[in-house]
Amino acid sequence: MSETRQPSTLSFLRARRSVTAANMPAGGPDQDTLHAILSAGIRVPDHGKLAPWRIVVFEGEARAAFGRDVLRPAFAANQRTDAPETTLALEAARFERAGVVLAVLSTPTVPHKIPLWEQQLSAGAVCQTLLIAAQAEGFAAQWLSEWTAFDPDVRAALNCSGENDQIAGYIYIGGKASNDSDRPRPDFDAIVSRWPS
Ligand SMILES: Cc1cc2nc3c(=O)[nH]c(=O)nc-3n(C[C@H](O)[C@H](O)[C@H](O)COP(=O)(O)O)c2cc1C
Repeated sequence: MSETRQPSTLSFLRARRSVTAANMPAGGPDQDTLHAILSAGIRVPDHGKLAPWRIVVFEGEARAAFGRDVLRPAFAANQRTDAPETTLALEAARFERAGVVLAVLSTPTVPHKIPLWEQQLSAGAVCQTLLIAAQAEGFAAQWLSEWTAFDPDVRAALNCSGENDQIAGYIYIGGKASNDSDRPRPDFDAIVSRWPS
């Protein structure tokens, strides 16, 4: 049997952190690295082998085009009808904060003997695995929802309008980054207990 232990993985997971999209350096993974990140992202626990998720990749000009053609009009129509031009321009540029944006769609099969909740959890696993894969390659990355995950016109543009479909999130991936700041992390003992307590 081949060696399966990867001692560096645990130390990486205990130290990894996100870089906010607002602070991402320019750049992003090249095509081979992005393919590897995506391949890792779809290798997740998936009860029933339903693959109840889809990923839409935005890179290059597609980021600005989606902002112009979808985000801007959706914001003006559904989020803030009196938004000034400066706000609309900022909203249109949302995906341009990162070199690559991955929209992860939760597209469960309902009804099905595999519970909806489990299929949705699997979409969360896709998000987290994409995030870990990008960060493990040294890229700044963050999982965001923002209004763009819930807006009906954005959902429609991503073919994610089914009654049980959801945008699980967007994985923003920027250039290579070191990140020296961290956020407060949960108190281990407040989270973890042993039964019987
Ligand atoms: C489903 C989901 C949606 C999120 N959406 C947002 C968001 O819209 N805005 C935000 O500031 N952080 C959001 N976050 C939080 C950040 O992605 C992340 O938790 C934080 O940056 C720290 O992540 P880290 O543990 O990788 O350092 C979201 C997290 C999850 C799990």
